[in-house]
Amino acid sequence: MTDEIKQRKLEHITLALEEGIGVSQRAGWGDIHLVHQALPEVDLDEIDTTVTFLGRRLACPVMISALTGGHPEAVTINRNLARAAERYGLALGIGSQRAALVNPSLAPTYAVVREEAPHAFLIANIGAPQLIDQARHPAFTRSQIEEAIAMIQADALAVHMNALQEATQVEGDRRMRGVAAALRHLTAEVSVPVIAKETGAGVCREQALLLRSCGVAAIDVGGAGGSSMSALEAARARAHGETQAQQIGQLYRDWGIPTPIALVEASVAGLPLIATGGVRSGLDVARAVALGATVVGMGFPFLKAASESYERVCALLEQTLTELKIAMQLSGAANVPALQQTDVVVSGETRTWLSLRGFDEELRTLANRRARAGASQAAATGAWMQRGKPSAPVDGYS
Ligand SMILES: Cc1cc2nc3c(=O)[nH]c(=O)nc-3n(C[C@H](O)[C@H](O)[C@H](O)COP(=O)(O)O)c2cc1C
Repeated sequence: MTDEIKQRKLEHITLALEEGIGVSQRAGWGDIHLVHQALPEVDLDEIDTTVTFLGRRLACPVMISALTGGHPEAVTINRNLARAAERYGLALGIGSQRAALVNPSLAPTYAVVREEAPHAFLIANIGAPQLIDQARHPAFTRSQIEEAIAMIQADALAVHMNALQEATQVEGDRRMRGVAAALRHLTAEVSVPVIAKETGAGVCREQALLLRSCGVAAIDVGGAGGSSMSALEAARARAHGETQAQQIGQLYRDWGIPTPIALVEASVAGLPLIATGGVRSGLDVARAVALGATVVGMGFPFLKAASESYERVCALLEQTLTELKIAMQLSGAANVPALQQTDVVVSGETRTWLSLRGFDEELRTLANRRARAGASQAAATGAWMQRGKPSAPVDGYS
């Protein structure tokens, strides 16, 4: 089991970098339109990208998603990512720590992130299926979970929900009954906030409400449209000559709820949301924040950059931040809270899905937030004028 997990971790990195593991249908970020402001009254160089997440101030809403650890090859990648997280003030997730819980000699492949990023918001990572007894191994104990947190002195714990990956993985864990109850117990006892994290199939409205009832502090909607864990397992199956598993992995490559849709669906829970899955530019980051994300995660682009060098990670971040700031300026948003209140028009298949799922009112609200804010301000100003005071200009309507 020890060597099996270690080997799998290596295969995940190499296959992700060598094979196309993206879904064939994209996330649909092109359906999300920020309404352009011709005279935005915002200086590009003065845009404030800081954001508060789970009580911590982050320099920007971009985060590095959980990717790796558990194999000596992962050390350099994690080091490059952690150095960048420290320099740019980002949150950073690490890959599933099961490998190190089973084989403690692998702990340094994860612990390197705290050494390199002493001040960053770091997120430990375990799998939801491992919260219950599986056919081939028992559930994690509380002390093992605390060990995972202590390994990187984590600020939060991500519990990844990867039923799709486990189902398409030849040696995957097949049991899921009882995981929600186990998650509820975990959130009541564990020492840090818990983030429920999908890994590419998304979170719908009903599951978001279930997760809230389980006591999670935040949800990473981890939607479809970017890296596909099913495609990754199909590539592994092919490499091992497992034809049937390869076909199944390919069949489910596109399965899931696209990330922008998952964001709107999961917003009913009223929890802080992380948007991960197919985010490929700073413009996508801006779209996700405008749709309701507090933080936006990128996985594969960071894996690729970090496998090359620390400088490549920094270059990717600089580019992403520049793109994000341009979107913010053109939307008239000088800071992240303003971006979260800007107007967003949702079109195409994303709109069709959300409409059929009963989100028409939410879509209208998203598209008219400025006007509504202006109207309430106008109403307040009107009441003030009736009391005989001079007229004051109303933002955008004077
Ligand atoms: C090679 C690889 C390994 C991953 N390992 C983990 C993991 O151990 N735990 C986890 O929560 N997510 C894991 N993920 C999922 C990512 O955190 C992220 O949700 C996913 O890659 C979607 O984002 P992207 O489209 O930007 O790549 C992994 C992704 C990749 C590509």
